[in-house]
Amino acid sequence: MSTPLPAIRKAEPSDRDRLIALDSEVWDASNTPRDPRPSVFSRVHFEEGRILVAVEGGELLGYVWIGRRTPFESNAHVRVIRSIAVSKAARRVGLATRLLQAAEARMREAGARKSSLTVLSTNAGAIALYERNGYRLEGRLHGEYLLNDALVDDLHFAKLL
Ligand SMILES: CC(C)(COP(=O)(O)OP(=O)(O)OC[C@H]1O[C@@H](n2cnc3c(N)ncnc32)[C@H](O)[C@@H]1OP(=O)(O)O)[C@@H](O)C(=O)NCCC(=O)NCCS
Repeated sequence: MSTPLPAIRKAEPSDRDRLIALDSEVWDASNTPRDPRPSVFSRVHFEEGRILVAVEGGELLGYVWIGRRTPFESNAHVRVIRSIAVSKAARRVGLATRLLQAAEARMREAGARKSSLTVLSTNAGAIALYERNGYRLEGRLHGEYLLNDALVDDLHFAKLL
């Protein structure tokens, strides 16, 4: 019997504690420039379906968070993957790929034409994920962050929808 695929749905306020727990498992100085604690989910609003979660048997295994880069009308066709994460136990089975695809489908429904994101140059796994899913490097901010006593580049990737 095959294992059921985790369902992907909009996040709800009742997911908050599990999102915070996943953040505390996942983020460190190798993959985020911000201080990961406290989790942004301790204060974020859950409106408009901007956060999608992958849930299986009551376990929250991953999420993707969609945002706008700017509030400008001239930039309204662009969306940003603000954050994407998968629980360590659920990696390399395609969950982040499905979350990215679900996020891109929502962006298209909202009329967006471009999905963009930033990733640390130290985050080889995430870079491979994005390239595999059609994202291309648009820019590099050299030595943008000092993390673990080393300067790290900020890479800007994007994909036309
Ligand atoms: C990056 C991350 C979201 C990937 O999640 P995932 O569910 O394991 O990704 P997928 O299974 O969809 O991977 C799809 C492809 O991406 C690439 N990839 C993903 N993780 C990789 C890794 N650690 N090393 C190398 N390639 C990787 C591979 O090509 C993979 O295909 P394959 O497994 O058939 O080789 C997950 O490792 C994670 O949560 N990391 C910590 C948070 C993070 O860095 N988020 C991104 C911030 S910019």
